[in-house]
Amino acid sequence: MTELEGRGDAGTPRILLLYYSYTGQTAKVLDAAEEVFRKRGYQVDRAPISFTDPRYSEKFSRFPMRRVWPDFLSVLPAQTRKATGDIRTPDEVRTGDYDLVCIGSPTWWRTVNMPLRSFLMSHEARPLLDGKPFAVYVVCRRYWRENLTAVRKLAQKKGGRFVDSVHFTYPGGQLPSMLSLTSYLGSGEYKNRYLGVKLPPTNISDEQVEEARRFTARLADKVFGKQ
Ligand SMILES: Cc1cc2nc3c(=O)[nH]c(=O)nc-3n(C[C@H](O)[C@H](O)[C@H](O)COP(=O)(O)O)c2cc1C
Repeated sequence: MTELEGRGDAGTPRILLLYYSYTGQTAKVLDAAEEVFRKRGYQVDRAPISFTDPRYSEKFSRFPMRRVWPDFLSVLPAQTRKATGDIRTPDEVRTGDYDLVCIGSPTWWRTVNMPLRSFLMSHEARPLLDGKPFAVYVVCRRYWRENLTAVRKLAQKKGGRFVDSVHFTYPGGQLPSMLSLTSYLGSGEYKNRYLGVKLPPTNISDEQVEEARRFTARLADKVFGKQ
């Protein structure tokens, strides 16, 4: 794409940050992206997806989880089937005309979380994405690849043009990082030990916020030209 392609009428690029975020980590990464775009004078809108499906909404409307393991596992069968569910989206996804869509996707059970999948499979995704460049920001404990591949395919199916991606994972081996995450999901607090195991930090670090800024600056250069 040339530098002038993909700009709004006023010449100011318009960016949409489209995401689902339960514990706020994906929102934090996109906060950093928003800062970078705004510093360049771009127009930025946010479209957080709300998970309204009656089968799950109660569990995912409160944080920390009331009963961590049953709540955490509640979406596993649906995630495995790659099922969709009820969601609500802000008007921006229907009314806006964007030059770049940044998609924030936390992993749920190794793949795209149900709320984002539901949007990307809906009829509303095509008018938003058709012919538009998009980038993917994956946030998870460990399993980013299948999530990224799925988001990329779903958005491309709606006519989106993939530009770039970045992923953020949390430190530690399989068991300690899982215990660190579930301890956080169940308490909303960071603990050093859980069930006798020393825990690594979970969630997005300050260094990862910096990495999100650097990635976003490169992305902006790529899509709109260097500033
Ligand atoms: C229901 C659920 C399932 C998850 N499954 C996975 C998984 O399979 N692999 C993984 O790496 N992380 C998994 N995670 C961790 C999330 O990707 C991680 O908590 C991330 O911070 C969520 O982003 P958010 O804070 O924006 O909601 C899961 C989290 C939840 C709540």
